[in-house]
Amino acid sequence: MTQHPRLGTSIERALEVLADGGLVAIPTETVYGLAADALDPEAVNKIFAAKGRPADHPLIVHLAKAEQLAAWASEVPPSAAVLADACWPGPLTVLVPRAPHVLDVVTGGRPTVGIRVPAHPLATELLTRFGGGLAAPSANRFGRVSPTTAEHVAADLGDDVDYILDGGPCPVGVESTIVDCTTSPAQVLRPGGVPTEQVEALLQGALAAASGPSRAAGMLASHYAPRARVVLADTPIVAQELLAQHADAVLIDGTADLVTYARDLYALLRAADRAGTSTVIAVMPPAAGLGHAIRDRLSKAAAPTDG
Ligand code: TXA
Ligand code: MG
Repeated sequence: MTQHPRLGTSIERALEVLADGGLVAIPTETVYGLAADALDPEAVNKIFAAKGRPADHPLIVHLAKAEQLAAWASEVPPSAAVLADACWPGPLTVLVPRAPHVLDVVTGGRPTVGIRVPAHPLATELLTRFGGGLAAPSANRFGRVSPTTAEHVAADLGDDVDYILDGGPCPVGVESTIVDCTTSPAQVLRPGGVPTEQVEALLQGALAAASGPSRAAGMLASHYAPRARVVLADTPIVAQELLAQHADAVLIDGTADLVTYARDLYALLRAADRAGTSTVIAVMPPAAGLGHAIRDRLSKAAAPTDG
């Protein structure tokens, strides 16, 4: 495979592109993001065009440091302060009431903004030198599997991204946990890299189930989908039975080690597609720790698409 002409490790180049109103794919500890200056509406609009993402789906604003949160919020709810203090930098996004200057194109016109401080040395360096906020969704085409390597981004977005900052494979592999801190009690809208149990412990049990229709777009029933049909198995034994019934099926079972399962999940789904596999049989992990996020993504990958 020939290397993408705009793929490299130059922070300088990434900063130039951002200053010019362009798009940079950035490595984070969860998945790669497709970033633009969060205060530049034209740049942010390019993200929606590149991804093919509906305009009313809000974007997460990425910051270098937890201390910057207050500048993007009209008010920092106590739950957000506790979570930011304990989990940042790290795979957690808090929804807070937006500050007046936060763009409608970033929040989808909502009164809240999602903020996160990623834990990846290149992202931290870029954000620190950039100084502002970077609006970034996962750097995949809408509805597809998120990219966990720079090569995944290049394969998905090609020329629609101006520069891809290559930070190697993402160590967590599933997206951030999204907590809506504007409700009382707070709600986990998307399970992710910080286990729900940890959020619950930090908030001393004050956590409600997500309510309301599609609070986050990642909550659509079908999302994170490979081209192959994904069939879920509750146990490795059931998976073996299913394997025997499907001629060219591929088995994904990382239940022995959930950290590795999360890290490798999207790359395995992409590899199955590259190999032309028609069916992926995936073993569901228990609903604990990273298992919440893996179960969520596998269920969405297995859900039928609407068209
Ligand atoms: O780990 C991650 O969170 C990655 C990396 C790149 O940071 N980002 C990511 O972004 O997964 P995205 O856009 O693919 O998923 C973010 C989800 C979307 O479903 C979006 O609708 C929701 O968060 N979201 C963002 N801001 C929101 C807001 N103010 N209110 C409700 N949902 C929001
Ligand atoms: Mg996404």
